[in-house]
Amino acid sequence: MRELSLHLLDLAENAVTAGARRVSITVEESPAEDRLTIRVADDGRGLPEEKLRRLEDPFVTTRTTRRVGLGLSLLAAAARRAGGALRVRSAPGEGTEVCAEFRFHHIDRAPLGDVPATIAVLIAGYPTVDFVYRHRIEEREIVLDTRELRAGGEGMDPADPAVADAVARWLRDRLRPPARSKEEDADAQADR
Ligand SMILES: Nc1ncnc2c1ncn2[C@@H]1O[C@H](COP(=O)(O)OP(=O)(O)OP(=O)(O)O)[C@@H](O)[C@H]1O
Ligand SMILES: [Mg+2]
Repeated sequence: MRELSLHLLDLAENAVTAGARRVSITVEESPAEDRLTIRVADDGRGLPEEKLRRLEDPFVTTRTTRRVGLGLSLLAAAARRAGGALRVRSAPGEGTEVCAEFRFHHIDRAPLGDVPATIAVLIAGYPTVDFVYRHRIEEREIVLDTRELRAGGEGMDPADPAVADAVARWLRDRLRPPARSKEEDADAQADR
């Protein structure tokens, strides 16, 4: 997978497959600390100890043992390649948390891709699951909680493609770096 947003989709789908009612998706970008983290936590059925251990087996073993899990081993490999690591915490009945860390500036760090589009796909595809999406870029942060979306005055239907589309546009808009003020523009001019 070339983009981390596709890994996010895989992680969220794993959570839904595990019976999660609530999935929290967190992206933290910190160029200053040379770190990018994606985390998906769910309240699904969790993983038994021995399966958890097998998930952490090196990538090569998953090639011989069919379907131990391609998604997670690809993500683990992508994280390691970019100077990071994958951590999975889980217990039966207690949900699962998968955290992938990357060095932000690493030459082999895959691009993040279109996270808002991924969120929109999830919201529309699994309208009965609650998603909490939090995305931090240095000190800026956006949060989307689908329970609030549903409870809002408009009573939005998450399964409506128009709603998903509007959500993706709204998120993309909020993730864009803030426009420079007139004063900052003037300063930049003066520096030239
Ligand atoms: N959030 C989760 N909760 C419970 N079990 C999980 C979770 N994520 C992964 N698993 C277990 O780990 C296995 C491996 O997951 P992985 O994403 O690597 O592969 P997959 O989903 O089975 O297949 P693929 O992603 O290649 O289509 C899953 O089949 C599932 O049994
Ligand atoms: Mg999967």
